[in-house]
Amino acid sequence: MASAVRLFSQHSFVFRQKFSQCKKYALSSSCRSLHSGHSTYSGGLFTTPIPEFEDKADINSYHDLHRFSLENPREFWGTLAKSRLRWHEDFDNVMDCDMEQGKVGWFLNGKLNVAENCIDRHYERDPDRVALIWEKDEPNQHESVTYKQLYEMTNQLANTLRSHGVKKGDRVVLYLPVMPITVAAMMACARIGAVHNIVFAGFSAEALASRIQDADADTVITADQGVRGGKIIPLKSVVDAAVAKCPGVKRVFVTKRTGNKVPMGTLDIPLDKDMAAQPTECPSEIMDSEDYLFLLYTSGSTGKPKGVAHTQAGYLLYAALTQKFAFDYHPGDVFGCVADVGWITGHSYVVYGPLANGGTSVLFESIPTYPDPGRYWETVERLQINQFYGAPTAIRLLLKYDNHWVSKYDRSSLKTLGCVGEPLNHEAWEWYYNVVGEARCPIVDTWWQTETGGVCISPRPSAPGAPILPGMPMRPFFGIKPELMDTKGELLTTDDAEGALCLKTPWPGMARTIYGNHDRFIETYFKPYPGYFFSGDGAHRDGHGFYRITGRMDDVINVSGHRLGTAEIEDALDGHPDVAETAVVGYPHPIKGEGVYAYVILKEHVDKASEEIIRELRSAVKETIASYAVPEMMQITSGLPKTRSGKIMRRILRKVAANQSDDLGDITTLADPSVVEEIVKRHEEIV
Ligand code: PRX
Repeated sequence: MASAVRLFSQHSFVFRQKFSQCKKYALSSSCRSLHSGHSTYSGGLFTTPIPEFEDKADINSYHDLHRFSLENPREFWGTLAKSRLRWHEDFDNVMDCDMEQGKVGWFLNGKLNVAENCIDRHYERDPDRVALIWEKDEPNQHESVTYKQLYEMTNQLANTLRSHGVKKGDRVVLYLPVMPITVAAMMACARIGAVHNIVFAGFSAEALASRIQDADADTVITADQGVRGGKIIPLKSVVDAAVAKCPGVKRVFVTKRTGNKVPMGTLDIPLDKDMAAQPTECPSEIMDSEDYLFLLYTSGSTGKPKGVAHTQAGYLLYAALTQKFAFDYHPGDVFGCVADVGWITGHSYVVYGPLANGGTSVLFESIPTYPDPGRYWETVERLQINQFYGAPTAIRLLLKYDNHWVSKYDRSSLKTLGCVGEPLNHEAWEWYYNVVGEARCPIVDTWWQTETGGVCISPRPSAPGAPILPGMPMRPFFGIKPELMDTKGELLTTDDAEGALCLKTPWPGMARTIYGNHDRFIETYFKPYPGYFFSGDGAHRDGHGFYRITGRMDDVINVSGHRLGTAEIEDALDGHPDVAETAVVGYPHPIKGEGVYAYVILKEHVDKASEEIIRELRSAVKETIASYAVPEMMQITSGLPKTRSGKIMRRILRKVAANQSDDLGDITTLADPSVVEEIVKRHEEIV
């Protein structure tokens, strides 16, 4: 950090002077050359704003446009919604939002269809443009899908859904690998107005069943099997086990990924066969801006995962704008977001953002180390990827291998390197920047969440030029006003402050509700700091006003960029017949960012060996949630540190898990301080 700050301050004055000589919006070639090479650390704050606002005399920089977007949200978002989306009927009110009430509405009474926006308008102009490049799990195998092919596949799938009775407003659960038909299924739902709910295809049958039930879905789309890292994933049999617990499910469409034979039951419909018999045209449903587009379940600090609901126009506009500007995407670029479509990153930056912009998006089905740690960079070379967007956990994993796994592949196509999901630590930042990007590609560390729909804080919300500091997302996107709150709920007004990260102004991509539980939506996001959206994260704002994320402030842990509620894992463990009580915390993990640490108290008179119980508990978590939720560290103890009123002091459990037992702070308020001695001792035995 120190070296970056030094470089930043040394160069910023000189560069700002040089940039002030550049032409306002189109930087001259001499100025542009300053932006290449090592300019990531340097450069002025002179950046190209969004072209729709070029003619405004008082907008000359990112700062000007950012201020304009906050002061004139109706003009800012209304202009962009008109120019960037195709409408059947214009909206009559840009926004109707009240952050005190948690009420959010955008582009009211506008009518549109998201699939038309993502496919038809590009297909009409340029049917042979490549929409998707499917990088299959099998190394060296990719398949391209043009806008024409995607149009036809989507329409056939939409006709299939309709012919089986799926209609506007119905929830459709997708449990699918990363493959073109998954995108077609999302688009087919959008075309007929159904609400898709993708469940990451690594979740267990039980987790899938609870999401099907909560979304009250009667239709599931899956594949025979998935393949990841050369391993077969039995998708259909997981769906069978889940559907057995969901009497409301009326039909299960099954596409082929491996082609291996899987048992088909009375609810099952072979999707590919049915689609082949359908016409390639399908009239689209005209949707209201505020109709639901999709639900996506994510973990909270309490209770079951919540179905975050996003709507049509606002989400799409926000995904499109952030994909274009946060990553500096240009027509003809190949956008390589390697996230699974089952997470929000896949929704916004594999599918909706790139397709709304008429782009070419990579569907990455594999894992970073298959068949070897060069997989990403070999893919970059072969597909000529221009923007690469991945997760810090993968970067940390890959930097452990020899650099020749990177350098043996040509990465000259790369222009921007992005990351999301958890803090990108300095070692990982330096490696990503210097080794992968050859010190010429800006690193955009993007901060956002399932609930925000798209990137909210990112180093380059506008075109090239702005200096970038390692390890922080830095600058708010247009329309976003981050604020920090102290522990008393007071607004922190100075720079160099640290507190709860809230967003003051509404933006079109924000979630509208938690499906079936609007009260929980209000409680979680709007009650903690009235008048603000509370992210659940803490952040630090430095002397330049740049933001760095410090981590979750609630009982959510972040394992390899995946959110997990400690309560969810505790529930899974508590279900074991020999378990009396559990407490789960996160601890620093060198690759995953955070690992799961479970403290377990057994019932009296359990005579099974601890190892056996631990084995059973691990498989209970795997079966109830997913493999990535399985605690890596587990200790069986006779007690937990509790206050006299019976509240578990998680602070102490976190310190012990993080090997900081010599810094436990005040433990005198504990009902029984001797418990601490025991858990410290047991921890030392298991590390
Ligand atoms: O804690 C923050 C972390 O990931 C959380 C959101 O998780 P999810 O909804 O699953 O979405 C992940 C992909 C958008 C946040 O509350 N997070 C996300 N981006 C960053 C981050 N933490 C630090 N730095 C980031 N860039």
